[in-house]
Amino acid sequence: MPRMFVPGPVDVADEVLQAQAAPMLPHRSKEFEAIFRRASEKSQGLFYTNYRVFLTASSGTGLQEAAIRNFVDKRVLSIVNGAFADRWYEVAVSNGKDAEKLSFEWDVPASPDRIADALKKGRFEALTIVHNETSTGLQNPAKEIAEAVRAVSPDTLIFVDAVSSLAGAKIEMDAWGLDMVLTSSQKCLALPPGLALGAVSDRAMKKAESVQNRGWYFDLLRMEKHRNKDSSPATPAMSLIYALDYQLDRILAEGLENRFARHSAMAKRVQEWAEAHDQSIYAPVGYRSQTVTTIKNDRGINVSDLNNFLKQREMRIANGYGPLKNKTFRIAHMGETQMEDIEELLKAMEEFLKKN
Ligand SMILES: Cc1ncc(COP(=O)(O)O)c(C=O)c1O
Repeated sequence: MPRMFVPGPVDVADEVLQAQAAPMLPHRSKEFEAIFRRASEKSQGLFYTNYRVFLTASSGTGLQEAAIRNFVDKRVLSIVNGAFADRWYEVAVSNGKDAEKLSFEWDVPASPDRIADALKKGRFEALTIVHNETSTGLQNPAKEIAEAVRAVSPDTLIFVDAVSSLAGAKIEMDAWGLDMVLTSSQKCLALPPGLALGAVSDRAMKKAESVQNRGWYFDLLRMEKHRNKDSSPATPAMSLIYALDYQLDRILAEGLENRFARHSAMAKRVQEWAEAHDQSIYAPVGYRSQTVTTIKNDRGINVSDLNNFLKQREMRIANGYGPLKNKTFRIAHMGETQMEDIEELLKAMEEFLKKN
């Protein structure tokens, strides 16, 4: 199997791909409803939540939009230190909300104190934050941010994008007091793209009752009525839900703590390897992602040559994102990737570095 060290879509295990091949069922049948229910209930464990988890036929951006449409009447504060955080801000603006951006340099973690100051100055119904910025390999301190928000503005809802971290890093929705946590299927869950998962608190659902123009497809109050009957308003992505149901058993069999430890050991190995080869890490110590490492291209290597070299060995990594293209490159270590795969990649990269 070719190995994708890119931060999504990632490799999917053959048996998980095969789980998608189960025959179709009427989606409003007892048989399918049982699968839908099982997958939703098992998903709660990934979020460390007792709240509901919505499964939507969309990628993660769909749920970024759902958060804005359902739970924000007017004012939202977007914390931005990377490309995907900026996208969430744009989603809010393009949906006509009065969104304010609190920006940090991309290699600087979002500061709980500065967020608290912003909330003291203005009233915001909600705050958006990306837990793991895939564009930079920086992990924001979501737990500390949530604590700071609660202390100064307890009514502000907290939305967390965990697209590239959920199921690879521990995010305790209920214990941290988060109101919506969302993710996509094609990252740490190691499923094909096309499904998004979003856990939502009761108080956010209550807030939605007073928000106008929630739209139709992502109206989470409508979806909740159907979810309570183990169904969805529109046709669900059935094959992906078969695969999710199957993959959740594999994930739970590995054990969540073991899975997080595997991701973090691979991150440490890649970071140490880069530093031992005169390349520094983009994100500061203490805030480095455990699912994707962004390496500064200090040696000035040609990233596309490197990738062509790796592709001959059926591997590929990712170039830097947007403005960081060629200035950095990214190695993802998420989903099905094991330490042996990382060792093989690093060996091949060493071979390339010797020749270049
Ligand atoms: C952190 C983060 N948020 C949001 C997205 C958008 O997710 P999707 O492509 O599933 O809509 C991505 C995609 O890479 C991401 O990495």
